[in-house]
Amino acid sequence: MTELSLHILDIVKNSTKAGAALVEVDITESTARNVIEITITDNGCGMDEEFLKGVTDPFKTTRTTRKVGMGLSLFKTAAELTGGTFDITSKVGEGTVVKAVFVRDSIDRQPLGDMASTMVTLVSGSESTDFVYRHDFNGNVFEFSTVQVKEILGDVAINTPEVLAWINGYIEEGLQEIVAENI
Ligand SMILES: Nc1ncnc2c1ncn2[C@@H]1O[C@H](COP(=O)(O)OP(=O)(O)OP(=O)(O)O)[C@@H](O)[C@H]1O
Ligand SMILES: [Mg+2]
Repeated sequence: MTELSLHILDIVKNSTKAGAALVEVDITESTARNVIEITITDNGCGMDEEFLKGVTDPFKTTRTTRKVGMGLSLFKTAAELTGGTFDITSKVGEGTVVKAVFVRDSIDRQPLGDMASTMVTLVSGSESTDFVYRHDFNGNVFEFSTVQVKEILGDVAINTPEVLAWINGYIEEGLQEIVAENI
């Protein structure tokens, strides 16, 4: 994988597959601390302790189409390559938290990629799941929540092309703003 957003897409898909009603994506970028912290929290089915121990091993998967599960192990490797850290906690029936810390100025740190289209892909793929995306850039915070969007939309489905295009633009603009405020 070449971009952090593609890892995020993959990790959030685990959450939707796990039946999560809510998935929260938190990104904290700090130039002062030289980190990008990515935390994905879900309220899906969770994993038991024993499964969790081996879950970043690429041979651990509940997939039936192929034996090797890659998402978590690739994300872990990408973070650790920069000198960062990876942590996963989970509880059966409660949910899962995946946290990866990237050293921001590491030569091996992948670019963030397109978070707007990543969120749009997720929202369009799982209508019944709610998503919250929070992005903190040096203390300036942008937040997008499908809970709020659905309230405004009323009977209109969130995955119509018009709404998805609006979401894409809203996230792009919001991210530009929190970065621009720093310059
Ligand atoms: N958020 C989660 N909630 C519950 N189970 C999870 C979660 N994330 C991962 N898992 C479990 O861990 C396994 C490994 O996940 P991983 O993303 O590494 O591989 P995969 O999803 O099986 O395959 P791939 O990501 O390559 O499509 C999954 O098959 C699933 O059983
Ligand atoms: Mg996966």
